[in-house]
Amino acid sequence: MAGTPDIKAYLQDKLKTRFMGRELKYLEITASTQDVARELAEQGAAEGTAVIAGEQRSGRGRMGRLWLSPAGGLATSIILRPTLDSVYLLPAISSLAVYRTLGKLGIKAGIKWPNDVLIDGKKTCGILIEHSLTAGELRYSIVGIGINVNFDTGNYPEIADIATSLSAQLGRELSVAEVALSLYTELEAIYINIGEPARIIDEWSRNMVTIGRKVSADFHGSRITGTAEGVNRQGNLVVRLSEGSTREIVAGDVTIRNRHGGA
Ligand code: BTN
Repeated sequence: MAGTPDIKAYLQDKLKTRFMGRELKYLEITASTQDVARELAEQGAAEGTAVIAGEQRSGRGRMGRLWLSPAGGLATSIILRPTLDSVYLLPAISSLAVYRTLGKLGIKAGIKWPNDVLIDGKKTCGILIEHSLTAGELRYSIVGIGINVNFDTGNYPEIADIATSLSAQLGRELSVAEVALSLYTELEAIYINIGEPARIIDEWSRNMVTIGRKVSADFHGSRITGTAEGVNRQGNLVVRLSEGSTREIVAGDVTIRNRHGGA
């Protein structure tokens, strides 16, 4: 069954990447792969080193939220060392890698700014990116990706209405190892082009479901509502307010409001 330690042997056999996922640590159960990856990064692990857990007991989400991470999902954290001036591209790069991975499985997904991946408006992947900085230098980034692969969201009332899984979409269980293989392959293919930001931002924004929608977002401590017009070259979300001016959202969460105006 998917998610067994065989995942490591499978990936070592099949991965053709130069560095992404080439060093791999598999843990049946851990608190958070982010913490394990951070320890490895502190010990000087190579770029592309990945940690996979069969199950996380304290999976972390963005904005201090919890990430449900039972067996059957893909929970992985990857160590990257981009330059400080290109680190802003990591949300685009990582969500695009997931988007492409789902596309290869025949699933039409959409990216919700900045880096959620949705299927039919429901979340199927979350990404948490953490950084270590010293004296104005980026030491490393940890890109944490959680994909609901084989997962019955109906068993979790708190997310049943807002989340979905690949198995629910396809009506069959998938191999977590195959999903990871495709993910690391796509991640490397996009990441090695980090020196071409326009290409990355263009593909990212073309596949973003947020654009053209009415959204609410936090802007310097207050809540604004407007229409998401696009993303700029820095990857910020450009929101046009009803009185005509625009605001650029740099970070945080946006809520896509439904067609009737509710959240
Ligand atoms: C979010 O949408 O809030 C982000 C969720 C990120 C979850 C992944 S699972 C692998 C890695 N380990 C964690 O504890 N979190 C990330």
